[in-house]
Amino acid sequence: MGEYVILSETSGKIHVIEVVNESKKYKGLGVFNSKKILSSLSIGDEVLIGQKYLKILPPKLPELVKGMTRRAQTISSKDAGFLISKLGVGPGDTVIEAGLGSGGLSLHLARVLGDKGHLITAEPRIEHSDVGLLNLERASKCFPEFPKHTHFDSLVETIELDGKSDAVILDMPEHKAAILSCSSHLCIGGRLACYAPTTAQLEICWKACEKAGLEIEWAGELIDREWGVTSKGGMRPVNGPIGHTAFLLIAQKR
Ligand SMILES: C[S@@+](CC[C@H](N)C(=O)[O-])C[C@H]1O[C@@H](n2cnc3c(N)ncnc32)[C@H](O)[C@@H]1O
Repeated sequence: MGEYVILSETSGKIHVIEVVNESKKYKGLGVFNSKKILSSLSIGDEVLIGQKYLKILPPKLPELVKGMTRRAQTISSKDAGFLISKLGVGPGDTVIEAGLGSGGLSLHLARVLGDKGHLITAEPRIEHSDVGLLNLERASKCFPEFPKHTHFDSLVETIELDGKSDAVILDMPEHKAAILSCSSHLCIGGRLACYAPTTAQLEICWKACEKAGLEIEWAGELIDREWGVTSKGGMRPVNGPIGHTAFLLIAQKR
């Protein structure tokens, strides 16, 4: 058993538990000594804690995302997967990400960058980076490979870097200054992505990318429509609205 254990409720709710030899309170599970209860158990075992039967699962990306600590609004798997593919991010790349926030996107990036990659994050609000850095620390103990990580407690437009980056991803309320500054960190062929919840923000991103000399490759939104099995048989879209997360924009330095 590693330093963190994933406990899954029958409802699918996930708890990421640090294995420590002391009695601690875990939200939704109560007070227990995780080392005493969990250290002799294995993946696939079931354990009763309080009134709940919990299954021990391996600490994979979806479990770490479901069980992550949250503060700032996170980028979901729907958008993270698309951003990673469109930017062409993979093992060994250097990626600048701002703001770190809760580290939702960072978890996805850390999973694909591998041991030789470099994740550079910036976040001026310490109360947000405390959460984001905790989620990344957990991931570093759970993933088989983890990139070098450099964090700046500051606005991304003020960071100074040696060398160029393969990609930049910006999720923040005001993108313009960050786009103008971060485009200078990109290598030729590198790409910059913006995550912009409103159309007004998207338009500002588009114009700022053009001003920075980047070529816009794609802008738009992804719709996520979940389906399920009906009680009478057959499948159909599940009830509920088709939600909006953000507009995405991808631009390249040529
Ligand atoms: C919505 S959160 C980011 C969430 C993150 N992408 C995730 O998936 O968890 C936006 C963050 O950007 C930070 N921020 C705002 N302006 C910034 C800037 N110029 N440079 C770096 N971070 C900035 C905010 O403090 C906030 O924490």
